[in-house]
Amino acid sequence: MKRVALLLCFSFSSAVLFAQVTNEVKMNRFLDSLIRLMTLEEKIGQMNQYSSDFAVTGPITKDGDKQTQVRKGMIGSYLNVTGAERTRSLQEIAMQSRLKIPLLFGQDVIHGYRTIFPLPLAEAASWDLEAIELSARIAAIEASAAGIHWTFAPMVDIGRDPRWGRVMEGAGEDPYLGSLIAKARVNGFQGKGFGNTDAVLACVKHFAAYGAAVGGRDYNSVDMSPRMLYETYLPPFKAAAEAGAATFMNSFNDLNGIPATGSRFLQRDILKGQWKFKGFVVSDWGSVGEMVNHGYAKDNYEAAMLAANAGSDMDMESRAYVQHLPRLVREGKVKMSVVDDALRRILRKKYELGLFADPYKFSNVQREKEQWNNPQHLAASKEVAAKSIVLLKNEQQTLPLSKQTKKIALVGPLVKAIKEHLGFWSYDWDDDSARVPSLYQSIQNKIGNNTQLLYAKGCELTDSSRSGFAAAVDAANQSDVVVIYVGETRNMSGEAKSRSNIHLPGVQEELIKAVAATGKPVIVLIAAGRPLVFNWTAEHVPAILYTWWLGTKGADAIADVLFGDYNPSGKLPMTFPRSEGQIPVYYNHYNTGRPAKTETDFNYVSAYTDLRNSPQYPFGFGLSYTKFQYSDIQLNKLAIKPGETLTATVTVTNNGNYDGEEVVQLYIRDVTGSVVRPVKELKGFKKIKINKGESKQVQFTLTANDLRFYNERLQYIYEPGEFRLFIGGNSRDLQEAKFELKK
Ligand code: NOJ
Repeated sequence: MKRVALLLCFSFSSAVLFAQVTNEVKMNRFLDSLIRLMTLEEKIGQMNQYSSDFAVTGPITKDGDKQTQVRKGMIGSYLNVTGAERTRSLQEIAMQSRLKIPLLFGQDVIHGYRTIFPLPLAEAASWDLEAIELSARIAAIEASAAGIHWTFAPMVDIGRDPRWGRVMEGAGEDPYLGSLIAKARVNGFQGKGFGNTDAVLACVKHFAAYGAAVGGRDYNSVDMSPRMLYETYLPPFKAAAEAGAATFMNSFNDLNGIPATGSRFLQRDILKGQWKFKGFVVSDWGSVGEMVNHGYAKDNYEAAMLAANAGSDMDMESRAYVQHLPRLVREGKVKMSVVDDALRRILRKKYELGLFADPYKFSNVQREKEQWNNPQHLAASKEVAAKSIVLLKNEQQTLPLSKQTKKIALVGPLVKAIKEHLGFWSYDWDDDSARVPSLYQSIQNKIGNNTQLLYAKGCELTDSSRSGFAAAVDAANQSDVVVIYVGETRNMSGEAKSRSNIHLPGVQEELIKAVAATGKPVIVLIAAGRPLVFNWTAEHVPAILYTWWLGTKGADAIADVLFGDYNPSGKLPMTFPRSEGQIPVYYNHYNTGRPAKTETDFNYVSAYTDLRNSPQYPFGFGLSYTKFQYSDIQLNKLAIKPGETLTATVTVTNNGNYDGEEVVQLYIRDVTGSVVRPVKELKGFKKIKINKGESKQVQFTLTANDLRFYNERLQYIYEPGEFRLFIGGNSRDLQEAKFELKK
């Protein structure tokens, strides 16, 4: 019986392999014959990408004659062309070119296309990989129906500096969580594989180490040790490559003096060499030409040479390849084999998508219409939004609100906001205000006739006028409870949105103080694309929800949480600092030779004398309306050898009054190593549902492989010795056990 099963299994897998090989052979034959027909200029045209003039996401060069260039086969790809009709009409022009090579349409579909999902950082707070994959899947379904083949996502840069506006686009500070999320997003975008009309190419960015831009200033330099690079910044990229991501984007920063776009080390040695990446690499917007500003290339001619030779296959908007590569090849400064390799990588993706068979496959007006207001997508947007909300504080069970509350004051500049919910990377669709509710509307839909809502804006998001405070205080005085909705504008976190001051903008925290002074119970909702600083609020207000930017149905999700129809379960994917001066602050830091012993230990220890030693909220933190209690950790053994498995078990009890979900987190610490090790490293987590009054056992397994790290010689090894193991609901409040790794 077993043998038959084995044989069947073998013949099945050999059949799959055979089909794959014949497909590969067929594709290569096709590509070989196409490439043979191409002139040098046509080859380089495929390596050239322009932005349309419709929607612009960078400093555009307008030349007014892009269509002629498409007709001449001088453009391989476009970004920022939205909609089935526009993509179709440009594709028709490409079909007038000599070899009729289809255009590839790319777009920043970062957190949804038509249906907007929470910012990636917010979604990371769900620690729910299925939800994250679903949101990417839906984005791909909608974008592909509008003619888009390729999304410039996921961004997998590790973010340890909330001044950097782009942290909103990533999964936060942790390489383990970041790797799993990177994989989920790639799987979501690429779906069941290319050839399906709803699968788009993922583009993993920004390769590499962009998250460590000095001082959190966008486009800035990065200087980091190779060990830090391998251990902290590269893992999510590697995970995405292993998940089959089709493309990578390099980055604006220089890494240790070499711009990433011109870095052979990153693109040829690591990505295409060590990781055997078979897709293509696109530059970031203008990053080939910007090597001149970096002081790495004399002019665009030299920049094109350096970038192409380093392994940047496609030039986004520098126009350096199309202008200079032909001459560089003729002069022998860039080998024809370099061009052919880049070209084949690009054409391969077009082939895999099925564009040679049908260049209009994705530009389907009917399909676009069908997906335009897909109710399932809207429902998913609300569900993922609810999972992304983090409850930071809830004293005296201020939340959830009773639906019988007589009078609720809704205060703050965001209460009636609509577009703000959509966050940074979203397109302003004409009728969106009809389907994006404000928080006011969502709350109104939830309450019955017996509840009265009072509204006062209080102040604007960013200006300094306090003229609306009196009305806000008045509304509060007349009500049983106050909900204050404050935060950033949607344009304050994102590309080129670094801020040196990440306090709540304008006079919003003063508004909170004024309203809280009424003595009424106050609930503060904070919308932002990054961790903000709001110390007074954190200390004085009884309830705080961090709501990020949650997308199309975000306000409905917030209303569900406010009234207890959804019990919050989000956990912070980034540490929240107490002040900008504490940045960078992250949980997996080294211990130093003089660690502080207490919150206020300043006695010749590593600390700031004017600040408590902990962050405002630690990584992994988030409350629930219920209470989860953790038992001691049970280990199956106190020592393991390589090849053996350690099992750690805890019992988590829900002893509050609500059913709820908890993200149970496992951390380890390698106590002594040949290089210093972080005080904690996340090595596992499980999100589980526990009904009130119930207990659940949660089990994790570890082997020596989970204890590996990069040593001084960059070997990925484990070392025998003592380890600590922690399990709990955040990176601070943990049960602890010890084990040993033996030789
Ligand atoms: C620059 C950004 O850094 C990148 O992430 C984005 O994909 C491109 N612009 C295209 O808009």
